[in-house]
Amino acid sequence: MAHATLNSAKEAKKDEFYTKLDDIAKELKYYKQYFKDKVVLCNCDDPYESNFFKYFALNFNQLGLKKLIATCYDGSPIAGDELPLLFEIEETEPKKIAYKVEITEVADYNNDGAVNMADVQWLIQNDKNALSLLKGNGSFDSPECIELLKEADIVVTNPPFSLFREYLALLDKYGKLFLLIGNINALAYRETFKMFQQDKIRTGYTNFNVGMFFQVPDNWEKFHHMENGKKIARVSTSCWLTNLPVAKHNEDLILYKHYSPEEYPTYENYDGINVNAYNDIPADYNGVMGIPLTFLDKYNPEQFEIIGLGISNSGLECGVRPYKPEHKKYRKEVQKRGAVDGDLYMMINGEVTVPYTRILIRNKKPQKP
Ligand SMILES: C[S@@+](CC[C@H](N)C(=O)[O-])C[C@H]1O[C@@H](n2cnc3c(N)ncnc32)[C@H](O)[C@@H]1O
Repeated sequence: MAHATLNSAKEAKKDEFYTKLDDIAKELKYYKQYFKDKVVLCNCDDPYESNFFKYFALNFNQLGLKKLIATCYDGSPIAGDELPLLFEIEETEPKKIAYKVEITEVADYNNDGAVNMADVQWLIQNDKNALSLLKGNGSFDSPECIELLKEADIVVTNPPFSLFREYLALLDKYGKLFLLIGNINALAYRETFKMFQQDKIRTGYTNFNVGMFFQVPDNWEKFHHMENGKKIARVSTSCWLTNLPVAKHNEDLILYKHYSPEEYPTYENYDGINVNAYNDIPADYNGVMGIPLTFLDKYNPEQFEIIGLGISNSGLECGVRPYKPEHKKYRKEVQKRGAVDGDLYMMINGEVTVPYTRILIRNKKPQKP
């Protein structure tokens, strides 16, 4: 049994990873105060399938929401499964229906003594205003969905990874608050990275880099395990991203190591040192340091400045020089690897060594050496 990953998802444009309710609840419990009197939009979410919709519908009163909107994209393989029951639609292609659900109150409509999903179901089936067809395909960037985006205060979803760039750019353009599930690989996208530099995005509370489990469609061959008859895939690189406040990003990292040239090699083609993990950052170094992307999960803009990204063709070049001629040759002829000018490298035990993606940072308040 193989693991499905978001990387393979991107290649195959398979975007059908459905978020589990407990993962949503675990992250969202930290932001409750930001939802009062707000319009929440879940714009990649079939209300019948999405646990984002379910979470907000179930917690509508507790969070004090003003309105909940969810839109269903007609390209989703599960879209519209239940809808022919609700609409009198010629069933030529019952699975191709884009629609929206808008809810402004949730009460005990069925008088069973509790406010729960049965009431939400009742509302959708009985309130003519709650559920309606969209004119277009329900894509988050279609004109009618953009109108809903404008109306929203906070957008919360797990968007299709293959469209993550476009999705985030749209939220940024309309200046919306957001809470999203993304992927660590997307942090090095130029657009996302720039937003980190400008403190317009940060990672959430859920442990970074440990992976999350998602339900995937029944016809997928690659999955991790079965749960209640459903296929579950693990995505090791998923993470939460938001522009709402997250406490850890306001706290200084405790740094306890000291700089030494032996422990922290200097790059051959950039004036900076290499650091292999955030907890190895030397407290007393005031120059530029290259550090793995996972640092972003600890990043406090008051403590560090992000200078750039140490990879070529990132569109974020920040002065990384070409390979020295003698090293380019070594890389190509001895290591038989491409020598890509613009990638950071260093010499370790006389060998050209290229670290995995590095962010270049500087400590704003280094200790005196
Ligand atoms: C990663 S899945 C997550 C679904 C749901 N948000 C959840 O977390 O369970 C992304 C969803 O976006 C849908 N989608 C793909 N392209 C879309 C588009 N252009 N606009 C809106 N939704 C889209 C996919 O069909 C898929 O259902």
